[in-house]
Amino acid sequence: MSETINPGDRFDVHLQRGGRTLTVPPGESILDILLDNGIDVAFSCSDGICGTCETKVIEGIPDHRDSFLSDEDKAENSKIMICCSRSKTPVLTLDI
Ligand code: FES
Repeated sequence: MSETINPGDRFDVHLQRGGRTLTVPPGESILDILLDNGIDVAFSCSDGICGTCETKVIEGIPDHRDSFLSDEDKAENSKIMICCSRSKTPVLTLDI
């Protein structure tokens, strides 16, 4: 079982394909940090509703905060809506 962090805490996002690790501070989204670093990802509503920002999770446990994924999807922890969801583990590895 991986170490867990408190809801809203900072965490690191490791970009598996990009080979980079970025820190997501409290109050900012994974999407914000990716865009700030010039990483082009698809998004639309930025509010966890539309599903456009769905991203595959390779390692780590998401803190799901969207209204798009089903409860089954959320329990699987294999995808995340990066516009609003955070992480329960200190590092989240994504297929980006
Ligand atoms: S951009 Fe719409 S769910 Fe993330």
